[in-house]
Amino acid sequence: MIRRPRRNRKSDSIRDAISETKIHIEELIHPIFLTDGKNIKSEIKSMPDYFRLSLDFVLKEIEECLKLGLTHFILFPEIEESKKDILASYSYNQNNFYLKAIKDIKTKFPETVLITDVAMDPYSSDGHDGIYENGKILNDETLGILGKMSLAQAEAGADILGPSDMMDGRVLYLREILDKNNFKDTSIMSYSVKYASSFYGPFRDALNSAPKFGNKKTYQMNPGNSKEAILEAKIDFDEGADYLMVKPALHYLDIIYQLKNNFQIPIVCYHVSGEYAMLKFAIKNNAIDEKKAVEETLVCMKRAGADLIISYYSKFYAENFIK
Ligand code: PBG
Repeated sequence: MIRRPRRNRKSDSIRDAISETKIHIEELIHPIFLTDGKNIKSEIKSMPDYFRLSLDFVLKEIEECLKLGLTHFILFPEIEESKKDILASYSYNQNNFYLKAIKDIKTKFPETVLITDVAMDPYSSDGHDGIYENGKILNDETLGILGKMSLAQAEAGADILGPSDMMDGRVLYLREILDKNNFKDTSIMSYSVKYASSFYGPFRDALNSAPKFGNKKTYQMNPGNSKEAILEAKIDFDEGADYLMVKPALHYLDIIYQLKNNFQIPIVCYHVSGEYAMLKFAIKNNAIDEKKAVEETLVCMKRAGADLIISYYSKFYAENFIK
């Protein structure tokens, strides 16, 4: 035999030296669930070992992460039911604790890269990402709200805005509003290819943000479609997005791969709450080994083409695998 591929696998050092895919800590993004108040750390039932935190705990968490080398954070708010309305107006209210938290985090830790969520659902009494009227989502009317929300977040000091709503035309709409208001350096990480996935369930538990009627299939994508993924990504690229995201990650590695090969800007994948829960519950039941499973999972996302990975396992990965 002339070709013996096993020769290149014969020791740890050889395997390490020729391994094609390595994750660098800078490529990991750590999600944080922020809740109003003080001294609150409440575990999310469907996401064991993951918590909603009040700002005091968030600041401690960020300090710990920075020590590990994690610099990128994506922040999501849990909003009290009494503050929700059909137009998500609390999202740009000047007293909004989420906006204040952005300011506090950026003041205390200017070196962080803070990514926000732009969508109506956590603030909407209907739980939808757009204005919901007579069973329909009003796309163009929603843009105005996303614009106000984005400006408020940019003013608070967010580095990168993450529109996760899947309305048509929102990247250009937000880019123009940001530019007009002198936020030319505020970036847009677009949730370009976001599927209508069952794997967002635990996230909706965490924020109590599930849609009260219907589902999100008129704006989020059909899991069986991939041509549409390229179309969505192309539109967002042309509208000025700085990053393109694929979400969820694991069942959509082919989509990550296609975007990586078609677009010359960073591709982000979101390893979502249900994907975390799947691993965590299997681990809690001793079906799989946590360290091995997490390492394999994240490395495969990078191999598929993700430049950046948002994962509830980012901190665990940093603690266990970054030398
Ligand atoms: C809000 C939003 C969702 C997620 C991120 N931003 C939920 C949804 O679209 O219903 C899901 C993330 C996760 O499951 O970890 N639009």
